[in-house]
Parts: sequence; structure tokens; C-alpha cells
Amino acid sequence: MHKPLFHRLVSKDVETEEVDPHSVGGGLLSAERDAIQGAAQTRVEQFTAGRVCSRLALARLGVAATTPIERGEDRAPIWPRGFIGSITHTDTWCAAAVARLGELRSLGIDLESATPLKEALWRRVCTPDEREWLRELPDAGRMGKVLFSAKEAVYKCQYPLTSQFLGFHAVQVEIGDGSFRAVFRQEVGEFKPGHEMTGRYLVEDGFVATACELRA
Ligand SMILES: CC(C)(COP(=O)(O)OP(=O)(O)OC[C@H]1O[C@@H](n2cnc3c(N)ncnc32)[C@H](O)[C@@H]1OP(=O)(O)O)[C@@H](O)C(=O)NCCC(=O)NCCS
Repeated sequence: MHKPLFHRLVSKDVETEEVDPHSVGGGLLSAERDAIQGAAQTRVEQFTAGRVCSRLALARLGVAATTPIERGEDRAPIWPRGFIGSITHTDTWCAAAVARLGELRSLGIDLESATPLKEALWRRVCTPDEREWLRELPDAGRMGKVLFSAKEAVYKCQYPLTSQFLGFHAVQVEIGDGSFRAVFRQEVGEFKPGHEMTGRYLVEDGFVATACELRA
């Protein structure tokens, strides 16, 4: 059992819930089951944990526990009308974060194991400036993983607003002390080059966790 991470990364408008996917024995609603038909056991556990966490968090915002969170053709969750959220999982931990659409426009969270980002992946994940920054750090691999996770959180945050896939070089991330700033390098839907999104991160208990929010 790990300590919850994400409540420390989000604003007061966001409800979070976290669980070990192995400990969730069922809990999918019938409308959610098709999405996971025939999938491997680990994947079923992760998908189920994401839905269960989301439902528990949404219940605190007044959403009925019988409301399904279906999956779109693009694999993104379809949140109940008037709500937004984000789901993330690793093999051993799962989290969901949700909010009312009136408080936030969008939200993205990501969880990764805190193992170093392999140098072979730096070029694919990082812009030249990011690589230059990483090379000067004593714990470059770990901070590379924070960069990677921040980009995944930004991706999940922008997607509901743009419906667009983003390559890893589409944004450049600057990591601060517990926070990050992501600057768009290309136009993506409403986001022009230079547009900034900010987020928070922590590295704890073998995980890198990141979150980013767009205020309404
Ligand atoms: C979709 C993606 C973000 C998932 O991230 P991941 O680290 O592999 O996996 P996570 O466990 O953190 O997240 C998976 C969850 O993300 C959610 N998700 C999937 N597609 C999504 C999308 N387009 N938008 C928002 N959320 C999405 C789902 O809830 C999924 O869980 P579920 O299938 O159980 O419901 C990732 O695989 C991806 O395609 N990234 C695109 C490339 C990228 O990140 N570029 C960076 C640009 S700056």
C-alpha cells in the first residue's frame, strides 16, 4: 500500500482517489465492460481501478455511483456531463482526479515509476534544450522521467479541448522545485506557440507523479 500522492498536486477544486489495482476485485458497470473485453488480467485490473477511483472521487462531487465512465474511440474517458477528469496507472498504483467543469476547463495527471528515463529515449522525448539541461544534472535520468511524465499530464490536459495527438517535441518543459512549466512549440487547437501550461510534480515512494490543471 502506498501513500496517496495526487491530493498534494492539485487545487482544492479537484477530488482525487488512489488505489492498488490488484486490490480492486471488480466494480465495472455494464456500460464500461465492452471497452475491456478480452484484455489481459493486468489491463482489466488497471482499467477497473481507474473507473472505481473515478467514481469514488465523482461521488464526492455529487455524481451518482451508477454513472458509467465510458471510453471513447480515441481511448479517452468520457466523463459525466458537467465534469472533467483524468486517470493514470502503473502496475502497482492507480489514481484518478476529477472536478466540476465550471471550476476547471481541463485536467491531466500522470504516474510513472521513478526509474531513470533511459538515455536511448532522451532524443525521442526531449527537445534539444531539454537534453542540454538534463546533461548538466547529477540525477539526469530521474529528472528525465519527470519531464516525460509532465508531458504526459499536459497531453491528457490538452486533449479534451483539442482532440489532437501531440508528439513529445510539441511542448518544452522547464522543471522547477515541485512545479513545471510547459510551453507549446507548435499550434495545437486553441493553444498557440508560446502558450504556457503549469503543473506540479513530486518524486516519492518510487513514483513520479505529475498534474496540470486549466482553470475555467
Ligand atoms: C494516452 C497516453 C497519454 C496514456 O499515458 P500512459 O502513461 O501510457 O498511461 P496512463 O496509465 O498514465 O494513462 C492511461 C489513461 O489515460 C487516459 N487516456 C487515454 N487516452 C487519452 C487521451 N487522448 N486524453 C486524455 N486521457 C487519455 C485513459 O483514462 C487511460 O486509462 P484507461 O484506458 O484505463 O481509461 C499515452 O499513451 C499517449 O498516447 N501519449 C501521447 C504522446 C505524448 O504523451 N506526447 C506528449 C506531448 S507533450
